[in-house]
Amino acid sequence: MQEVKEFPKDFLWGASTSAYQCEGAALEDGKKENQQDVINREIHDQYGYADCSVATDHYHHYKEDVALMAEMGFKSYRLSINWSRVLPDGTGEPNPKGVQFYHDLFAELHKYNIEPVVTMWHYDLPMALVDKYDGWGSRQIVDDFEYYARFILNEYKDEVKYWLTINEQSIVVNYIDRKNKITREDMFNPRFRWQANHYMNLAHAKAAIAVHEIVPGGLCGAALDMAPYYPHTCSRADVMAAKNANAFKNYFYMDAYIKGEYTPSVMAYLKRQGLDFVIEPGDMEILKKGSECFDFLGINYYQSGCVKAATPGAARRFKQNNKIGKGGHITYEVQPDLFEGCKNELLDDTDFSMPIDPDGLQYVLEDINDRYGIPTMICENGFGAYDVLEKDGTIHDPYRIEYLRNHIKAIRRAIENGAKVIAYNPWSAFDLLSTSNGIAKRYGFIYVDRTDDDVKECKRYRKDSFYWYKNVIKTNGKNLE
Ligand code: BG6
Repeated sequence: MQEVKEFPKDFLWGASTSAYQCEGAALEDGKKENQQDVINREIHDQYGYADCSVATDHYHHYKEDVALMAEMGFKSYRLSINWSRVLPDGTGEPNPKGVQFYHDLFAELHKYNIEPVVTMWHYDLPMALVDKYDGWGSRQIVDDFEYYARFILNEYKDEVKYWLTINEQSIVVNYIDRKNKITREDMFNPRFRWQANHYMNLAHAKAAIAVHEIVPGGLCGAALDMAPYYPHTCSRADVMAAKNANAFKNYFYMDAYIKGEYTPSVMAYLKRQGLDFVIEPGDMEILKKGSECFDFLGINYYQSGCVKAATPGAARRFKQNNKIGKGGHITYEVQPDLFEGCKNELLDDTDFSMPIDPDGLQYVLEDINDRYGIPTMICENGFGAYDVLEKDGTIHDPYRIEYLRNHIKAIRRAIENGAKVIAYNPWSAFDLLSTSNGIAKRYGFIYVDRTDDDVKECKRYRKDSFYWYKNVIKTNGKNLE
C-alpha cells in the first residue's frame, strides 16, 4: 500500500458540478432561458452533442445524487446557482420555485453534513440580459450582477458559508464570443474582451464585498482555470514567452482578485497592441476593496501549458478545444509578440488533447502560496473520458483513478511545502455535459445512463472510481490505492 502523510484534519473532500451542465429542467417551474440553453442547442445542431434541456436531470435526481455523495463520504460539494432559475429576467421578480430548489438542495446537503461551496456564475447569464445589452458587453452587468449576488446572499446566507463569484474568468475572456453569446458584430473586436474582463473584475469585487457584508462568517473566492506555462526550449525567447504567458493567463486575473491591481507588464502589452480598456474614476478603489474581501482562491486544474516565442507576424488566435475526442485536434493560442502555444512533447495527452501533468498542480499551488500566501481550494480537476457501462452495471475507469491519485499526491507535496490547500473538489461529482463534447466525455464518480441522442431515464451507477474515492476520503487521503 502506498502511504502518504495525512491531509489536514478539517480538509474538505468532495467534488464539483455546475448548474447548466447537470440540472436540466431548462424551462421548468418558472425558469427562463440562459445563454447556455441557447449555446448548447446550437452545439447539438452542429455536432450532435446533448443540450441542456435535460442534461443529467439533477433537478429531479438531486436527493439521490446527494445520498450517493454522502455514501462516498463527501465533506463538501461545489455547485452553482442557475441565475435564470432564481431571477428569470436577470433582475427584478424572483421565481419562488427556483429559489426553493436551492433551499431544498442545501437542506439535503446539510442533512449529511456536506458543506456547500456555491459559485454565483458558471457561464450562464440569463438570456434576458444578453438580449437586453449583450451581457458582459455592457457596464450595466456590474450592477445587475451585484443585484443578483445580494439577492442570493440574503436568501441563502444561513445555509452557505463558502462563495465563489465567477467561474474561470480567463476562459470567459478567451471564449467570450461563445460563452457570452454576444450578438453585436463589433464585439468580435479583441479589445472588447479586455473591457468585458474589467466589468467582470468590478462585478466580482462588488459581490465579494457583499459576501462579507451579508453572510455571517462568509468566505469569498473565485475559481480560475490555472495552468503553469512551461517554455518549449530553454532558449531565452521561449523562457520569456513562458514568463509572458504566466503573467497574461494567470497573474493578470489573480492580481486583480487578490491585490486589486492590474499586472504592469500585461497592461503595457495591451496598450502596445491597442487593446487597452476604459477604467473609470473610482474603479480601482472598488477592485482594492474587493481584494480585501477575497479569502481563498479556487483553482480549476486540468493540465499544464507549453509555449514558445510568437512567430513574427502571426495573427492573434484563441485556443480551441478538441471537439472530436481524437488526439491532435486542437488549435493553440497565439498572442502576437507575446507567446504562442504548442504541444509539450514530454507529456502524454488525454484523447481530448489535454496534457496530463500532476506536477503542474504542485507547481501552481506552491507558486500561488509563495506569491500571495492565500488559501487555495481545488474547485476542479479531473479526467474526461469515454466510459463504458458494462452489462452488469459496473464501470471500470482505472484511467480516472490513476489521474486523480497522482494529482492528490501532488497536492500533498504542495501542502508539505507550505501551500494552504483547504479542499479538493474534483470535476465532477456525477456525469454531466461537457462544455465542448456533450455527454460523450464523462468526468463523474457516478455514471448517468444517457447518451447524446437518448436521454433514457438518467439512471445512476457507481463507477470503480466511486469506491476508490470513498476509501480516499475515509482515510483522509492516506490510502490512495
Ligand atoms: C472547466 C469548466 O473549464 O472545465 C467546466 O469550469 C468544464 O464547466 C470543465 O466542464 C471540463 O471541460 P470540458 O470542456 O471537458 O467540459
